[in-house]
Amino acid sequence: MNPWTNDLQAPQVLIVDDDLLQRLPMRAALEQDGFVVLEAENGQDAWQLMGQRRPDMVISDVVMPVMDGFELCQKIRRRDELQHLPILLATSLEDLASIKYAYQVGATDFITKPINWDLLGHRVRYILRAARTAQELADRELELLGTRMEIIRRLGQASEYRDNETGLHVHRMSQYSALIGEGLGLSRHDRELLLHAAPMHDVGKIGIPDRILLKPGKLTCEEFTIMKTHTTLGGKLLDREPSLLMRTAHMIALTHHEKWDGSGYPQGLSGEGIPLMGRICSLADVFDALTSKRPYKQPWSTEKAVQEIRRGSGSDFDPQLVRVFLEIIPGIEKIKAEFADEEPSSESVFQ
Ligand SMILES: [Fe+2]
Ligand SMILES: [Fe+2]
Repeated sequence: MNPWTNDLQAPQVLIVDDDLLQRLPMRAALEQDGFVVLEAENGQDAWQLMGQRRPDMVISDVVMPVMDGFELCQKIRRRDELQHLPILLATSLEDLASIKYAYQVGATDFITKPINWDLLGHRVRYILRAARTAQELADRELELLGTRMEIIRRLGQASEYRDNETGLHVHRMSQYSALIGEGLGLSRHDRELLLHAAPMHDVGKIGIPDRILLKPGKLTCEEFTIMKTHTTLGGKLLDREPSLLMRTAHMIALTHHEKWDGSGYPQGLSGEGIPLMGRICSLADVFDALTSKRPYKQPWSTEKAVQEIRRGSGSDFDPQLVRVFLEIIPGIEKIKAEFADEEPSSESVFQ
């Protein structure tokens, strides 16, 4: 009887063994249980066959000529699309070192020789079911991540629509932030976190009235007080989200206008009391604002903006970050050129 009646196709199991006297009973036992069986004589044969057929599971002997089971296992795990393919390595029970190594090279599990042919089908079914559940979970996780990233992207976009700034501002400043993170030696994970969280730094501007947000001239004291609330509004908007990305975005929205000497807003935090990612985004944000055209000013040249950043070291900005920033100017200029606003930048009036 075929136990896979719910599936369109019976699962395919690839058995890899140089010993025909092992393959034959294994094939018989698996076919009896309704599996489709593929065969290979060694790791290399199996690998070649997998170039044309995609088995649902591999059961491999360890000691084989040409390519052994460990090497096959390593080759399979190096391929992204085969990360979750169940691999069962057949070893003898006494060979503890091999069993340990089987797990190290990425085997899903091991099966001991001599193999009990009556139980093999149950074991294979169990592992296939577990692998399918793991794959479904991984797919769902990926889908959730994709949805979350899309919401984040759109939130960032929404704040751009409300502002005088172009969409490229958030793009450039988040790229600058990630580059500063790299210069600082942050892990790749943290740099990616910065890259994806930084675009939401001004999301709170959604709640600022047009007469203030879009005012071409200087803001009055009262207007500036309202403008400053875009940090806390952003914080509220991104609050209570369990994901690390959203928590980082929340923290950046709240702290990207804090200053190293404590004269920033909204909390007047100072020094390392300001979260590192907030300090990084603050520098990147100011640099991009200085070098971009605004209704009330022409874009500054990189040199002029760098001078301003240097002047703000220890007052507005973390001195260590300024040092890093000065070292990565060529990379900063590359990003600036790559994501330049459509309108050609005119030269600074301050030069
Ligand atoms: Fe801001
Ligand atoms: Fe900004």
